[in-house]
Amino acid sequence: MVDASAQSAESFAHVLATRLDRRRLLAAGAATTGWMLLGSGPLAACSRPTQAAASGLLGFAPVKKHTEDKVEVPDTYRYEVIYALGDPLTGATAEYRNDGSDEDHERRAGDHHDGIEYFGLSADGTPSRTSNDRALLAMNHEATTYQEKNKRLRSHFLHKAAVADELPRLASEVDKEVAVHGISVVEVAKVDGAFRYRRESRWNRRITPLTPVAIHGPARGNPLLRTRYSPDGTMGRGTLNNCGTGRTPWGTLLSGEENWCFYFTRPVADDGARGFTKQTARPVAGLARSVVALRRYGRAEGEASRHGWETAGDDDRFRRWNIACTGGDGDGTADYRHEMNSMGFLVELDPYDPTKTVRKRTALGRFAHEAAAFARVVAGQPIVIYQGDDARNEYIYKWVSAAKWSPADADAADRLAAGDKYLDAGTLYVARFGADGSGEWLPLTFDNKAVRSSPDYVFADAGDVCLHSRLAGDAVGATRMDRPEWCSVNPRNGEAYFTLTNNSNRRVEAAGAPQVAVDGPNPRSYEDEKVADDGKTKLLQSGNVNGHILRLAEAGGDPAATTFRWDIYLFGAEATADPTRVNLSGLTTDQDFSSPDGIAFSTVSGLCWIQTDDQAATDASNSMMLAALPGQVGDGGKVGVPHPRPGGEPLVVDTWVGKRPDANSLKRFLVGPRECEITGLCETPDGRTLFVNIQHPGELSPAASIGDPATYTSHWPGNHGYGAGGELARPRSATIVITRRDGGRIGT
Ligand code: FEO
Ligand code: CA
Ligand code: CA
Repeated sequence: MVDASAQSAESFAHVLATRLDRRRLLAAGAATTGWMLLGSGPLAACSRPTQAAASGLLGFAPVKKHTEDKVEVPDTYRYEVIYALGDPLTGATAEYRNDGSDEDHERRAGDHHDGIEYFGLSADGTPSRTSNDRALLAMNHEATTYQEKNKRLRSHFLHKAAVADELPRLASEVDKEVAVHGISVVEVAKVDGAFRYRRESRWNRRITPLTPVAIHGPARGNPLLRTRYSPDGTMGRGTLNNCGTGRTPWGTLLSGEENWCFYFTRPVADDGARGFTKQTARPVAGLARSVVALRRYGRAEGEASRHGWETAGDDDRFRRWNIACTGGDGDGTADYRHEMNSMGFLVELDPYDPTKTVRKRTALGRFAHEAAAFARVVAGQPIVIYQGDDARNEYIYKWVSAAKWSPADADAADRLAAGDKYLDAGTLYVARFGADGSGEWLPLTFDNKAVRSSPDYVFADAGDVCLHSRLAGDAVGATRMDRPEWCSVNPRNGEAYFTLTNNSNRRVEAAGAPQVAVDGPNPRSYEDEKVADDGKTKLLQSGNVNGHILRLAEAGGDPAATTFRWDIYLFGAEATADPTRVNLSGLTTDQDFSSPDGIAFSTVSGLCWIQTDDQAATDASNSMMLAALPGQVGDGGKVGVPHPRPGGEPLVVDTWVGKRPDANSLKRFLVGPRECEITGLCETPDGRTLFVNIQHPGELSPAASIGDPATYTSHWPGNHGYGAGGELARPRSATIVITRRDGGRIGT
């Protein structure tokens, strides 16, 4: 699901009825500057064809862009759907009818499949790191399809037609929508050589926003986590808007809670109820400081929830979604003022033990989590995890454990106890990027003077710092990035890659919040036109429209280092875009992409897989997945990105760029069905099977016509022969399995 704030009308601010050709080249007169600098420098030539030939990688023919309602992979590959929204996870649960009448969603596959990880199982059912034919897949179910722009609150495809969208919501509908969120664990195994999911596996499991979870780390028991549900602040109910994932070296899943704030309602006048007035002096202390925190985390007073779940009745399972402060100066156990503080973490789940309660790892910070990317583990060295906060102008983080890695923990009998060891004590850092290709990690600790002297907010204790990483990042002067999505570590050299998906608030010169000015690591701001869904209207998009991928190398190759070097690996762009300011990577039609989101390295082939969640170039193609050969930080050089300024000298932002890709170092591998996002990827240990998630096909289907299949913009995967509904099926998020027709390794 796209970041809801980015999806708002603001990102497509200006609807133009213009006669200009779309994707016209801007500033044609200045059209040589960008790569001219490169042309005269060390980047002029690229040796990637030799690299590709030597590696035996990228031997497939590139997949063409398309806007049809299908998944396309190279001719030499095949794909199958194995696990889609609503598929039953027990023998007693009915087949999915996919007509809005289905019940029991807490015993079915959830919606909006996202991050996914592979946990091998041996024939005797014990954990295995080598099994290629039997495994548990643990995956996130991020959200459910709805249409914000029409103020439609109901999930499109879960309900029958002809129920009004007005508030209050029906409890029966809300219960369904809640149940499709969260995480699922599902067993898969090869039957006659092809993977199928096992409906009656004892490991199949659903975690929803109602499943009891334990709070761990420094914020456990913090006064800011006390609620009616958990008066001592040690438990929470469920997990929400789970996006990217990570697989721990000890065999558990990490799941990132992303856009959780949009599910909560905060009524008008709640600022006053918390003792906050316009005159309140900064930094703000006491109960009133919760107003500063709530604003920073997307819930100013008067913000309404996405789905209106809080209106469905008096039961606590509905009331919790209204975070009004109604209990005055009390400790928060009489109302749900603190309920939102229990969301926004990395959540750890043991897929091999369905009896174990999920643990929220508060030490790793609270923000819009995406993936959790582990640095290469070394015996006797700390565990290091990279993370991004996906919202416009948010930060990149790194966790360094206090405990040193003991290889025996890879086979720990109590895997969540290993999690306690490496994830509950350590240091969370935030990144500051220098314009000269340097960077530093700044500790977000309670004893950091810069944190303690925040001009905005008085931190009460170490738990408070964990709960408000963004405020701590503000205080230390972290770098505002273009929506950090997934990250992944190159297994060959340890460098960390971050997708920066786009940023409609990036400007040549910032006129004030929420806009920020271009800088070295976020050097592009431009305008780009797109033809709207009606095929006629032209939409003018601005900012960093297509996103880029940044990579960093730690000082001395030490993942725990506090300084690093960075450069930009790839710029998203359309092949026809201005090569000096937009298509800075010189992408061709076989490679061009927009809004990189998922990124995952294969530990088998070393390939870098790039997945998109695009809104900007959907008139040219559905979202896609590409395979890339990574280089290394510093294998390119510096490039100046010129920005025309009305009536003045052009502004040139210097940035550090990797080598320009060629036909053999970056290729499109897959294009998905209409309006989908490609997200999440895992592989079998032999690298011969790839699992990929297709999220929210048909998400722009008119919400008003749930009962009229002819109006749906996608019918996938029903139209591919999967499940009920056929050619007119309601669309479903799903996991697909990709193999080579000759059974060989993927990506070669
Ligand atoms: Fe769930 Fe930022 O993607
Ligand atoms: Ca996204
Ligand atoms: Ca994402």
